[in-house]
Amino acid sequence: MKILFPYFVSACPRPPEIPFSIVVPLKFSYEPGETIVYSCKPGYVAQTGMRRFTCPLTGFWPINSLKCKPRVCPFAGILQNGAVSYTAFQYPNSINFTCNKGFYLNGTDSVKCMEDGKWSHPLPNCSPIICPPPSIPNFATLKLLKSSVENSSSYQDTAVFDCLPHYAMFGNDTIRCTEHGNWTELPECREVKCPFPTRPDNGFVNYPANHALFYKDKAIYGCHETYVLDGPEEVECGKFGTWSASPTCKASCKIPVKKATVLYKGQKVTIQDNLKNGILHGEVISFFCKNKERKCSYTEDAQCLDGNIEIPKCFKEHSSWAFWKSDAASKQPC
Ligand SMILES: *[C@@H]1O[C@H](CO)[C@@H](O)[C@H](O)[C@H]1NC(C)=O
Ligand SMILES: *[C@@H]1O[C@H](CO)[C@@H](O)[C@H](O)[C@H]1NC(C)=O
Ligand SMILES: *[C@@H]1O[C@H](CO)[C@@H](O)[C@H](O)[C@H]1NC(C)=O
Ligand SMILES: *[C@@H]1O[C@H](CO)[C@@H](O)[C@H](O)[C@H]1NC(C)=O
Ligand SMILES: *[C@@H]1O[C@H](CO)[C@@H](O)[C@H](O)[C@H]1NC(C)=O
Repeated sequence: MKILFPYFVSACPRPPEIPFSIVVPLKFSYEPGETIVYSCKPGYVAQTGMRRFTCPLTGFWPINSLKCKPRVCPFAGILQNGAVSYTAFQYPNSINFTCNKGFYLNGTDSVKCMEDGKWSHPLPNCSPIICPPPSIPNFATLKLLKSSVENSSSYQDTAVFDCLPHYAMFGNDTIRCTEHGNWTELPECREVKCPFPTRPDNGFVNYPANHALFYKDKAIYGCHETYVLDGPEEVECGKFGTWSASPTCKASCKIPVKKATVLYKGQKVTIQDNLKNGILHGEVISFFCKNKERKCSYTEDAQCLDGNIEIPKCFKEHSSWAFWKSDAASKQPC
């Protein structure tokens, strides 16, 4: 049986919405005397204001100053040897963690402030990066280990290897402790043999009297008299099993001119007196030529190349019976 109210009695409307709150029961209208209860949504707590209201006879809900504030999680703004990025330590925010160089994140990189005001995961820490003692490649020795921690290495520490004699290194001789707590790739030491060097024509080569020649072994080259070595005297067995060079012996040149004054090593000399045996491979002599119009002389070079020398075309051999003619070498330089 419905109770009848006087005409001035009104129903209450749907109650005002308060952020992050819920109303029980929630309806579009309430009879006077009906009661509603506000509560904060999970993750929020009531800060000020009333929570329980009764619909008055006037039909107007009283002013409600209820405030639901997000739950606050414990302070987490400091990470030793790292950094925290956050906007607020409250529901439902997340905060992120990073570590400084040389440290790794021991734990999660992000936590969320939960409804209950606790962090979703234990807070992480930044632990120093440690590498185990490095392994030594086969046929190698550890030359240098820069280590800041006992029996282990920390980020950016290095180790340097040497290969045993006869072995050549492939890869970097230096390894480094990385941010992953492992070392960069180990180098490899491989045995390297070089073939016996071949004796050059008109010369010789000396090398260790062993049954084989290995990486870094050396050979010495030389030439017989009047021959000149083209290349270095000493060659070395390289890491790819080849010698650093293969020198050869180059022949000296007889000069196909009986008499002439020439420039040789900056000096005026005569072929008949000073260069009877010719010049060595690579050496240069300068011949004097005449400029008929201007009655002067100039020089042109000739180089000995492995027994061959080309006499400049402008050069004319001075015949001794043409005594009235002058030798080009005695003329004024042009
Ligand atoms: C945390 O990291 C996530 C994913 O990278 C990103 O979307 C978010 O904006 C970061 N939060 C803060 C507070 O930096
Ligand atoms: C990682 O963190 C846990 C707990 O904070 C700690 O017990 C452990 O020693 C840390 N590990 C390293 C390698 O520092
Ligand atoms: C380092 O290694 C040496 C020899 O293996 C050992 O005696 C020593 O206890 C180790 N030190 C640490 C801190 O592990
Ligand atoms: C070898 O490694 C060291 C350290 O990581 C680096 O500084 C160097 O550039 C590397 N050398 C070569 C030839 O790659
Ligand atoms: C070191 O560890 C990282 C991450 O696990 C991996 O990607 C890398 O290949 C490792 N490096 C070496 C040389 O094993």
